[in-house]
Amino acid sequence: MSPPVTSATGADKAFYLTTPIYYVNDAPHIGHAYTTTAGDVLTRWHRQRGEQVWFLTGVDEHGTKVQRAADAGGVTPQQWVDNLVEKEWLPVLETVDAANDDFIRTTEPRHAERAQRFWEQVREHGFVYSAPYEGPYCVGCEEFKFAADLVPGTGEYEGQLICPVHGRPCEQLQEENWFFQLSAFTERLIEHYEANPDAIQPRSAYNEVMSFIRGGLVDISMSRSSVSWGIPVPWETGQVIYVWFDALLNYATAVGYGTDPSSPEGELYANTWPADVHLVGKDILRFHAVYWPAMLMAAGEPLPRKVFAHGWLLVGGEKMSKSKLTGIAPSEIIDHFGSDAFRYYFLRAIAFGQDGSFSWEDMSARYTAELANGLGNLAARATAMVVRYCEGILPAATADGAAEEGLQALLVSTAANADAAMVALDFSTGITAVKDFIEAVNGYVTEQEPWVLAKDPANRERLETVLYTICESLRAIAVLYNPLMPKTMQDLWGQLGANGSGATGLGPLAAQRIAGVAVWGQLPVGSSVTKGDSLFPRLEETT
Ligand code: MSP
Repeated sequence: MSPPVTSATGADKAFYLTTPIYYVNDAPHIGHAYTTTAGDVLTRWHRQRGEQVWFLTGVDEHGTKVQRAADAGGVTPQQWVDNLVEKEWLPVLETVDAANDDFIRTTEPRHAERAQRFWEQVREHGFVYSAPYEGPYCVGCEEFKFAADLVPGTGEYEGQLICPVHGRPCEQLQEENWFFQLSAFTERLIEHYEANPDAIQPRSAYNEVMSFIRGGLVDISMSRSSVSWGIPVPWETGQVIYVWFDALLNYATAVGYGTDPSSPEGELYANTWPADVHLVGKDILRFHAVYWPAMLMAAGEPLPRKVFAHGWLLVGGEKMSKSKLTGIAPSEIIDHFGSDAFRYYFLRAIAFGQDGSFSWEDMSARYTAELANGLGNLAARATAMVVRYCEGILPAATADGAAEEGLQALLVSTAANADAAMVALDFSTGITAVKDFIEAVNGYVTEQEPWVLAKDPANRERLETVLYTICESLRAIAVLYNPLMPKTMQDLWGQLGANGSGATGLGPLAAQRIAGVAVWGQLPVGSSVTKGDSLFPRLEETT
């Protein structure tokens, strides 16, 4: 009855990252794609470091919100979710180019069975009891609210208390439910977070959670008696598990919680749990940093290592949402700019952890300045010059001087700074480090003027040195940007002739390691450099 609080520390465990599972009451918008993209970039970064990785995303299919959407659509909830998952939620993963290892749906038997097993366990440990619930419930949040969570309404809701996220009054519930004894975990959660201050990030999120816990935790309903669309409570089939206490479990059920340890699922659990990072929007922090670890403590499972709460994409100063008709579909942007530019923009332009707004003007401006004129132009100039002056055969650098050594040293610090920032989920700083290196290389090209060197055969050694230096810099850039912009960096890798194996290339881009990226001189002399399509076509060419 005293389950372990701290996480296992298996050194060769996979780096396991999750996104929230998204409600399928409606189609995805760029707010959902933002979290998935961040998770994808981070997991690709860890893969590029040579780590084993497990990246999970999925959908949250139960609850009142989904049931009502299905009712309004005139279909059963199962038909509703099947249709939306197939037509919207799975395709959006391709749209943003996510390389997730699994996709969990809470209507899958593997989830329902293991979720029931989990609650049986918690009940056996004595943390579940039956009692009446009375209080406000926000269907938008699918959350039992406290008075302190609500704010005074204005306009049509003048004089009423409303949910600050959904801008509407809550529904008043009166039900006979099963309760989870959350109050039993107040002290243990405080101790856990005092000992592990990085377990909730950013710091503002940590402080918010600590003050909520220090205020004292009260027991909370873990079942709903007036809802039918959900997983039956195993010991009372007339009730379903409260949707959040079903949904949170996906992180463990999807990797094999509750299965035979010697089965493939059981081995996956041993190799992934506890999760390294739960990525969440700041609106669902309390569920992840208070209720979820308390549930795990109650069941006797190790706690996740980190919950990172990112900010909101705003429209007109408010959280973008479909229900407020402010949702932009990811394809609206990606059809125009491509998935790589989408991934670049959102992680570069908004500090992760803070709110941000999307604007077509800002995105177009950054696309043009940083991608088309910055990296795209550098790659186009480099490959065109090797083709023109060296028949497409990468020449050797035999005359390195101060300028080349300066770039080589800059690459060492760039790689170190980018790595430190990316593993700390400071995407914007990590990307900026690489962008600054690109600017330095572009500055080097302008200063060295290889097109002038090419006019006099006496400068041949310098010309070749300069061209090698640019291409070798692009080699490192392709590796450092591969987690962020995999499609374009693959093209760049091909243009550099790096794909081949042995003496003629470096092998697959995915096999390159961050740790060795700054070692100079890897791109083999003699590589076949080609001038391919422009990496980031000018916008007027695409419209
Ligand atoms: N189903 C729950 C999560 C259960 S996790 C066990 C849920 N779903 S949601 O679809 O409403 O939102 C999930 C996540 O989508 C948010 O936490 C956030 O990561 C992302 N976003 C949804 N709207 C967003 C913005 N406007 N801006 C940024 N992220 C947003 O909550």
